[in-house]
Amino acid sequence: MPQAVGYGILAAGVFLAMLLPAYGQQTMAPAPQAAVVHIGLPQPIDEPSSSPIDLQDALGGLGPVAPIRPREGQLPGAGHGPDEPLGRPTIRGVDPHAEVFAESQYPSAVTCAKCHRRIYDQWRVSAHAYAAVSPMFQCFEQKMTELTRGTVGTFCVRCHAPIAMQLNYPRSASMIDAPAPVREGITCVACHRVKYPFGKVNGERRIEPGPITDPVYGGIGGEGVAAAIANKDPLKIKTDVNDKRPGQTIHLQGIRFEQLSHSEYCAPCHQVAVHPGIALEVVWAQYRAGPAAKKGIQCQDCHMGLVPGKPLGYAYGPVAEVNGQVVHPMRKQSNHLFYGPGNSIAHPGIFPHNENAFRWSAAAWLHFDWKSGWGTEAFEQAVAAGQLHVDFPPPWDSVDERRAARRIIDENLQLLDLKKASAIAVMEAGSHIDGPFFEAPPRRGQPLSFYYEVRNISEGHNNPSGSLGAQPQLWLNVALTGPDGRHLWESGYLDRHGDLANQHSLDVTSGRIPSDRQLFNLQTQFLITGVKGTDREMYLPINVDVDPLPFLRPGNIPVSVLNHPPLIRMEQKSLPPLSSKKARYTVPGELLQMPGTYRLSVRLRSRMEPIYFMRFCGATPEMQRRMIEQTIDIHPQAVQFVVP
Ligand code: HEC
Ligand code: HEC
Ligand code: HEC
Ligand code: HEC
Ligand code: HEC
Repeated sequence: MPQAVGYGILAAGVFLAMLLPAYGQQTMAPAPQAAVVHIGLPQPIDEPSSSPIDLQDALGGLGPVAPIRPREGQLPGAGHGPDEPLGRPTIRGVDPHAEVFAESQYPSAVTCAKCHRRIYDQWRVSAHAYAAVSPMFQCFEQKMTELTRGTVGTFCVRCHAPIAMQLNYPRSASMIDAPAPVREGITCVACHRVKYPFGKVNGERRIEPGPITDPVYGGIGGEGVAAAIANKDPLKIKTDVNDKRPGQTIHLQGIRFEQLSHSEYCAPCHQVAVHPGIALEVVWAQYRAGPAAKKGIQCQDCHMGLVPGKPLGYAYGPVAEVNGQVVHPMRKQSNHLFYGPGNSIAHPGIFPHNENAFRWSAAAWLHFDWKSGWGTEAFEQAVAAGQLHVDFPPPWDSVDERRAARRIIDENLQLLDLKKASAIAVMEAGSHIDGPFFEAPPRRGQPLSFYYEVRNISEGHNNPSGSLGAQPQLWLNVALTGPDGRHLWESGYLDRHGDLANQHSLDVTSGRIPSDRQLFNLQTQFLITGVKGTDREMYLPINVDVDPLPFLRPGNIPVSVLNHPPLIRMEQKSLPPLSSKKARYTVPGELLQMPGTYRLSVRLRSRMEPIYFMRFCGATPEMQRRMIEQTIDIHPQAVQFVVP
């Protein structure tokens, strides 16, 4: 029904057009009192407008999920029986047969954790572990399915939930309640059961199915595995899945897979082209053209090494621990955190993955109000003393359950903090801010012009890599404070909804706040052509005004001729390796009336998604709020100067 698709998108387009300023229409002239704008710290979102933010809704942390299937009569903690496969707890709400079947084909990361605990702890808070349960992924994928009337098929799932692909896991079923290896996204076997080299295949790779005893593909070559098996009795290692004695079952072989150690290995998922030839992920292409590739530095060297974002070698030590003993004490240790700028917006009972969290269902976790302090000493004392009255839903009506859940939340929040610190570290490893450089000495009543130079100091690839699938934002936030401590001027501020004050801001289009005309934003967007032939930045390759183009469907001109849908281009604004851009600003003279010491502060800010795009996808208010909270600050710094 191509016709129906067209109408669906046209309707979406009309809706979008309403959110954007009409062509040629001037946005509000900056009123003098509006020049003092709020500082761009995460703003409490107070006045709801088109997308009402319910401050009570602290639980809506996940996007649309399919109905949960509660299991009658199952108590919290059930499923820990000794006869569970490999002693792994099953999840309430997950079909135990599906779980056992999945495990027999694609062992869960929890199984690998029995002997690779350190690696598992790094991986379980990584973006790879987050890929399938990411609320934003689910929400965006749902939107794409609606917009394309399902023709997007398994496109997104291939990379984000590769085991779901291999198992034909139904798209409509809930991801957070899926069998472990599905829910785990890019889980261990999604990388270590690949034995053929793949190129730019948009995530279409084969992952070898089989029980835990099947070979793993690694960078060492199996001598450690062989040594462990030769010593299997003292190590309590089992080599047969039907062996019921205590101990851990091992992969019988470690096979060296050459490509795993090279950048090519990452290309199938880190270079994405949608059907009409638009590249959504381009980091591989940028890397190939950059200085690091010429020097033979691999993605792994910067993203799995000792120092986040820099090719400064690896840590060394044991990589497996079996029954308390190490096999080889000095191996190269590849860090499986896969350093990157991303941070989770999921409920911390659901992500990072935590075996102890599995005794409660995902649905139960979504009702656990961690932000209000459930299970903390102070909260529980207030409840016990009758100072707080909460109607706890089961199982949280038990104080013991709440306290046990809080221990998991605390542990997970600690891991999330570590991930955030590494996100800042990797972004700082790839960027530098020079300045401010003043065009002339500051004078009272005179406009003040200055610039910063923002530099990509990494040899790897562009900063940001310019992913359009994720649309990460990276922008400069600059603020001027007067001698009396008042905020006088700012660029890179956020509106009430958490958006930058550009053409995508509802507050700018409604004239509530001035547009941030000097905004320095490195985000990549699509450029689409509107009805008058003018260009507009858009977040999906959909022409919203005329000739609506269904996403991922061939246009009417063969793609092989144009190599992209007609009238759509990518607008890359990111910094190529070792390059820099100047961010120029002018502060109006009337704001510099007072003599004295002024303070000029700057920081780069980064987050995975713009809020307007989350709104477009139907993200819950809590998801939007979490995204704002998870914004990271890079190189925050300030200078003082005197205006005589
Ligand atoms: C070929 C592999 C591939 C495909 C197919 C793919 N993605 Fe991604 N996706 C990635 C990679 C790689 C990243 C990380 C990009 C970065 O950090 O620069 C990513 C990041 C994201 C993010 C941001 C991180 C998060 O979880 O919040 C979202 C959302 C997302 N993708 C949604 C989708 C949707 C929806 C589709 C289908 C339309 C899709 N992706 C298809 C590889 C893919
Ligand atoms: C019973 C313990 C045990 C379990 C369970 C286990 N491993 Fe291992 N693994 C080892 C040992 C021991 C080594 C050898 C370490 C060394 O060389 O020091 C190893 C080595 C590896 C290597 C390197 C292989 C090479 O030689 O290049 C990879 C990759 C690996 N394991 C992945 C996995 C994955 C994935 C899982 C889960 C599906 C898993 N392991 C489960 C014990 C285990
Ligand atoms: C995105 C792909 C990817 C995922 C997911 C992944 N690994 Fe790896 N793993 C690698 C790469 C790349 C190396 C380095 C290979 C080399 O030595 O060149 C590696 C190395 C290893 C090694 C050898 C020791 C070392 O640190 O170099 C072990 C053991 C291992 N991985 C286990 C695991 C386990 C267990 C998981 C899940 C918790 C996992 N891996 C998830 C890509 C992955
Ligand atoms: C099976 C597909 C797949 C493979 C193979 C893969 N990745 Fe990824 N990677 C993804 C997806 C999907 C995401 C984004 C997940 C999300 O946040 O939702 C991602 C995210 C990342 C990030 C961003 C992390 C962050 O915290 O922001 C880095 C860095 C990364 N991958 C590096 C690598 C490297 C290096 C390799 C090769 C050794 C690799 N990946 C192999 C799919 C893959
Ligand atoms: C010389 C070191 C270096 C190499 C090599 C390198 N990276 Fe990066 N990478 C970085 C740094 C630093 C950042 C953080 C700054 C940035 O975003 O560019 C980063 C960020 C990323 C991100 C986060 C998202 C984004 O949009 O920037 C992804 C995904 C990523 N790299 C994947 C890869 C892949 C895949 C390869 C190999 C094809 C690779 N990187 C090679 C240093 C490197």
